[in-house]
Amino acid sequence: MNKLFSIFIMLFCSISLFGKETLIVGTNAEFPPFEYMEKNKIVGFDIDLINKIGEIIGKDIKISNLSFDGLLPALQAKKIDLVVAGMTVTEERKKFVDFSKDYFIATQVLILPENSTISNLNDFETNKLGTILGYTGDLLASKNKNIQKIQYNTPAMAIMDLKSGKIQGIILDSAPALGYVKNTKGLKILDINEEQEKYAIALRKGNEKLVEEINSAIDEIIKTGYYDQLVKKYFN
Ligand code: ARG
Repeated sequence: MNKLFSIFIMLFCSISLFGKETLIVGTNAEFPPFEYMEKNKIVGFDIDLINKIGEIIGKDIKISNLSFDGLLPALQAKKIDLVVAGMTVTEERKKFVDFSKDYFIATQVLILPENSTISNLNDFETNKLGTILGYTGDLLASKNKNIQKIQYNTPAMAIMDLKSGKIQGIILDSAPALGYVKNTKGLKILDINEEQEKYAIALRKGNEKLVEEINSAIDEIIKTGYYDQLVKKYFN
């Protein structure tokens, strides 16, 4: 009885001391406008989205910034609880993790110098294509073994080499690509009519309850107009 009582007291104290449960959210803040650094702070569409989800489901959110290809391994190693990183749902990734419902549609595009005559992905059999390690665009380019790929850790590094002429194009998700082209002189976007991609939140397998909570929070965020507010804030 005494023991039971002390367990009860301990439980009570830990709940009141630490308050809500904390979800550690992994991201890779090199992907504007979804997640990026602003004055040493991680900000972006995904960050606002997950903070709102946390608010709705009553959990504290702590963001952890990792390399993109380290996110799913960290999730499986239980170093983080969720991945919110403009991550595309793919069959391959679904073998290892579960996904929430999707919250954004994207496609892959090419970023090219304004005067480039490149007209499709296969033109990179004779040119150099910048890809970002582990991104879906990287995987797409790997389908044609004759494409000459140079892999970068971040889109920003690839953009620098594109400007200096070291590579002749970059394959990247449409929304970040548009942002880079807007903010960098002398670049253009080429749509390569690839399949649509869907971004969703990744979770460790076997967390059905949390998936459900997150999914209904996403529904609420759309219904209340908060989603539209985020679109306005980050895609004006
Ligand atoms: N949508 C692409 C993918 O899932 C790129 C995502 C990159 N995200 C990031 N936060 N760096 O592979």
